[in-house]
Amino acid sequence: MPRTRPPVITLDGPAGSGKTSTAQAVARRLGFRHLDSGALYRALTFALLKEGVPEQEWATLEAQQLTDLNVEVEVEGDVVNIYHDGVLLTSDLRSTEVTASVSAVAGLPAVRDWLLDVQRSVGAHGNLVADGRDMGTVVFPDADVKFFLVASLEERARRRLLQDHGREPAEAEVQEEARRIEQRDNTDSSRSHSPLRRPEHALEVDTTGLPFDDQVSLIMRQVQDLTPL
Ligand code: CDP
Repeated sequence: MPRTRPPVITLDGPAGSGKTSTAQAVARRLGFRHLDSGALYRALTFALLKEGVPEQEWATLEAQQLTDLNVEVEVEGDVVNIYHDGVLLTSDLRSTEVTASVSAVAGLPAVRDWLLDVQRSVGAHGNLVADGRDMGTVVFPDADVKFFLVASLEERARRRLLQDHGREPAEAEVQEEARRIEQRDNTDSSRSHSPLRRPEHALEVDTTGLPFDDQVSLIMRQVQDLTPL
């Protein structure tokens, strides 16, 4: 059947599997827009922490209260910018505090429903590479090519530390980070609303031991084989 809109490509997978950096590189090569859906969950988490909303109140938040947090998404061409109270959010989204709380926030049905429209409007015209946990299953179930990225827990922990600290981590640090990542994976996979899982028909790519450029090339080849661009 002929496609009615330009392509949508999804990359899902657990923490540190390389989704976001790969999606960004693939989008750049294709001249597509990149949606980092994790950044949206992080932005709401950042706003809740910044506004001092007590954690015991998070579960009862309603759509209007989420709107009142003043998290806004603006699309400029292929770039998706996220603001809180008019301030562009960048490295704040990846702070230890935000990372520690984001899975709890992402498990709230009100939060997921609130972000669904935001994500779909970013991808409404296709020419999109979207990465996250439920891109191929829930947000863009009709995506043209779906990937599921995996890697060993230890490698994911090592990469994450290298990315955050810019140096080779000590073994004890790797073990501690692996525990944190495993805990977040468990929370993300076991929640009832849009859990992390491999989308049907997704191509699984194990990136353990794969250099970043090879990972991007592999995805590019699959995309070019599977969808007329
Ligand atoms: O980069 P990393 O894998 O550490 O995380 P992320 O992609 O920034 O996502 C942060 C958190 O947001 C995840 O641990 C999930 O709890 C949540 N998330 C989600 O539930 N659904 C998505 N589509 C994307 C992220």
